[in-house]
Amino acid sequence: MAKLVGIPGSLRRDSFNRALLNAAAKLVPEGSELNVLSINDVPLFNEDVERDEGTPDSVMALRHAVAASDGIIISTPEYNAGVPGVLKNALDWLSRQVEGEAPVFTGKPLAMMGATPGGLGTALAQAAWLPTLRNLRVRYWTGGGNFTLSRAFAEFSDGELSDEKQEHLAKFVGGFCKHVDE
Ligand code: FNR
Repeated sequence: MAKLVGIPGSLRRDSFNRALLNAAAKLVPEGSELNVLSINDVPLFNEDVERDEGTPDSVMALRHAVAASDGIIISTPEYNAGVPGVLKNALDWLSRQVEGEAPVFTGKPLAMMGATPGGLGTALAQAAWLPTLRNLRVRYWTGGGNFTLSRAFAEFSDGELSDEKQEHLAKFVGGFCKHVDE
């Protein structure tokens, strides 16, 4: 009965990565849930702000949602063969120590996927995330292979994922839920 959160790494209204998480949320095994969060209100990280004003409310809300979850699914875009800045920025905020609160990432199960209109399905971005995931000390799960979605314009129609990819995604999400419940 995994209680998961999904973090889309894009601010774009019609983001394929958010659509992929929304599709995953409909495919979680019965009894589990996937709550898709947003990073749209996370400001640019600035240590002066953190020191003088504390962690912004939008970041604290995200932090508490992640902390209360049993596991995280990130859906990452790929920008210039690497990670998208807005998502890195959000994770940097969440990685900071907050007085009286436990670290949110340490030991937390995390699975990653990604969608792109391109042909490599965010494989390069997912590889580029690895040093950061290691540093965050998450329990990174791949299920034996990353979930990548290439040619996203062809795989989504009106925000709905193709049947073939839904089947693949259901296996990935189901496997992650099982891992989280173990
Ligand atoms: C891209 N895009 C892209 N795609 C890819 O597969 N490999 C890449 O290296 C890049 N590089 C890149 C750089 C920049 C600055 C932008 C704006 C875009 C395309 C990208 O995958 C596409 O915009 C996706 O739709 C972004 O994800 P969302 O917003 O749909 O979730």
